[in-house]
Amino acid sequence: MIEHRKLRVALLGAGSVGSQVANLLLTHREELAERSGAELELAGIAVRDVDAPRDVELPRELLTTDAESLIVGSDIVIELMGGIEPARSYVLAALTSGADVVTGNKALLATHGAEIFDAADQVGASVSYEAAVAAAIPIIRPLKDSLAGDRIQRIFGIVNGSTNFILDKMDREGLSAQEAQQLATDLGYLEADPTLDLEGYDAAQKAAILASLAFHTKISMDDVHREGISNVTAEMIEGARKAGSVVKLLAICERLEEDGEESISVRVYPALIGRDHPLASVHGGNNAVFVEAAAAGPLMFYGAGAGGVQTASAVLGDVVSAARRHIAGGVGVGESPRMSLPTSPIGRILTRYQVRLEVADEPGVLATIAGLFADGGVSVATVDQTQGDEGQAMLVIGTHRAREQALSDIVARLAASDAVERVASVLRMEGE
Ligand code: NDP
Ligand code: HSE
Repeated sequence: MIEHRKLRVALLGAGSVGSQVANLLLTHREELAERSGAELELAGIAVRDVDAPRDVELPRELLTTDAESLIVGSDIVIELMGGIEPARSYVLAALTSGADVVTGNKALLATHGAEIFDAADQVGASVSYEAAVAAAIPIIRPLKDSLAGDRIQRIFGIVNGSTNFILDKMDREGLSAQEAQQLATDLGYLEADPTLDLEGYDAAQKAAILASLAFHTKISMDDVHREGISNVTAEMIEGARKAGSVVKLLAICERLEEDGEESISVRVYPALIGRDHPLASVHGGNNAVFVEAAAAGPLMFYGAGAGGVQTASAVLGDVVSAARRHIAGGVGVGESPRMSLPTSPIGRILTRYQVRLEVADEPGVLATIAGLFADGGVSVATVDQTQGDEGQAMLVIGTHRAREQALSDIVARLAASDAVERVASVLRMEGE
């Protein structure tokens, strides 16, 4: 048998993902040594409570509550604790000591990415984070390496599994928002703080990471326009169905060009997608990401967006790469925020909209509403009217592509107009 160089690996966290990573590192030790060229010696696993029950049984002697000591002298540090502190301090300590870092912590990278990547550059270490976006789906490496010679125009997709699960249950099984959310909670799909998923923070963190890579620009959470799914009702899902669409929480990272000036729009919001669009068929907790590159054209990435063992696959891929780099020597491939493109406010984006209005079914109402759209400079593409009870009607208006600011000004005028009883919903229509 070939004698491999030993690399000391420290694992921080043995929760859903960490316990699976530890298990795979221990059970596939020889295979991983052959693939990476190094014997990956799991030196210890830092946790909060060594006696806590684990998804996978782990050797008791590897568990410790002393993360700081574990990091000292390690070649590779895998951070799977989550959250900002102490994860940030441990990652910085690991990098400063020259260790390569592998993490799945999107919250940390989306808020302190610049500081962490700078620390890695200073010592020539690497920070790998394939698991941070869309879990098992390889999307970071394609953006960073495979598409490094191309020019990315747009990234567009579903990057949060639990909200997709909720919206999918509402659409396919007719569950109310509350019922679907309760089911997601019971199945353990939601983060410990469910607002991270429901209010779109998790998706926004992932969008910030994807946009930074795609557009070679430092993008933080403050640059991302974020709307979650907490306002999406069964009525809106039903309205989407009648219009041949489905509601999905989308992350969109887009390169814009106007008057010769380039900017970036990074946004997360629930939007309508036609039922014939491939994203409409992304069910349950799955994720899917479209990348549109100038030369490569459209590419689609699809698979498990969460799950302990699925995410562990992405983590181990990064560990093998980090080990190979350690063996080969040289500096880690850093980030490339060389472009510094400005971000565009949400009011500047161009997309299509569906506006659902409850109106009195009386002469002149439609003309008044059409007039408000015309005065606001937004072109109406479709109008559909359904009779309601007691002389009411539901008007469903689809627009051509329009500027967000113009549309929201019109919605404010519609809400104030005597012709409109209620603005039932306003949703962007994406995917064409
Ligand atoms: P868990 O909450 O299941 O596990 C966290 C682990 O970290 C636990 O073992 C916990 O110890 C340990 N820990 C937390 N704080 C400390 C601390 N201060 N000191 C020492 N140990 C600590 O998280 P997940 O495994 O679900 O997620 C880990 C990371 O991976 C997160 O950044 C997450 O966003 C990311 N991720 C998760 C995915 C998933 O499907 N779960 C998918 C993609 C990314 P103890 O067990 O003793 O409490
Ligand atoms: N909360 C995340 C999701 C976990 O639902 O997609 C995976 O990052």
